[in-house]
Amino acid sequence: MSARQRITASAPPAKRATVTLSTLAEKKALGEPLVMVTAYDYPSASVAEEAGVDLVLVGDSGAMTVLGYPSTVPVTTEEMLMLAAAARRGLTTPMLVGDLPFGSYEGSDVEAIKNAQRFVKEAGCDAVKLERGGSSVDRARAIVGAGIPVMGHVGLTPQTATALGGYKAQGKTARAAIHLHEDALALQRAGCFALVFEAVPAEIAATIAERLDIITIGIGAGGATSGQVLVFHDLLGITTGHMAKFVKRYADIHEEMVAAVGRYGEEVRGRGFPGPEHSYAVEPEELAEFRRYLDQESLVSKSDWAWEPLG
Ligand code: KIV
Repeated sequence: MSARQRITASAPPAKRATVTLSTLAEKKALGEPLVMVTAYDYPSASVAEEAGVDLVLVGDSGAMTVLGYPSTVPVTTEEMLMLAAAARRGLTTPMLVGDLPFGSYEGSDVEAIKNAQRFVKEAGCDAVKLERGGSSVDRARAIVGAGIPVMGHVGLTPQTATALGGYKAQGKTARAAIHLHEDALALQRAGCFALVFEAVPAEIAATIAERLDIITIGIGAGGATSGQVLVFHDLLGITTGHMAKFVKRYADIHEEMVAAVGRYGEEVRGRGFPGPEHSYAVEPEELAEFRRYLDQESLVSKSDWAWEPLG
């Protein structure tokens, strides 16, 4: 081992600076792609932390990936807050964005601000995300006005997928792309610091992104946005079944987990686990004394059992 290798091996890992809005803006200005991933609990957030991502989104996709709902629609604010607080405990460096669930912000500015504040106060989020343009633009402006950074989300917005005709790419006609562009500009004017583009043709996303000053994060929107986001459970292959076209799997953890739990089951049934290396030892004299005590106890117990009913 060379002297340089020895120094590198013994040096503690470099401490990364906390990601702030300025960090993100600087990276965008430098053309450095931003990395965002979802997380929903302490272990997934810890993985994101160690992997050095820039942003962690506690997405309402957690409704499906970790809570087992059929869509993102049913998840409640309470459930999302619990997931976000757990993710917070696994993070020190990335910016933490909490996804406002369906029904928690659309009704009024007051309701939107109140729920956004809960994500900051109770779960420790740095920012919140909401879906759609239209009336969500006013909600975004209100939350930003209350001092909370907001990330918008346009294109395929799963909370209102039914109204969009299902889970399919958006902005595929000139008319739809114009609408998307208007929503994006309105959300930027409302003060959003970033915008997610989901399932939008790459060239449409690129054309709109270059007309925006704020950060753009793509998922199924090509490579021209300032950054990318993927769902933790999708990219690791924890979820199974049909995957959207834009998902790339970097691992097949589900299969590995099933195989590992299967091996554990086999070893328990075959009495191969636990082995001596997984068991605690006791001093022989302590064990002998314990057994002597039990022998005497059992004599006493046996005599106890010999009692006869009165009369
Ligand atoms: O909930 C989520 O995971 C999201 C991302 C796909 C952007 O909204």
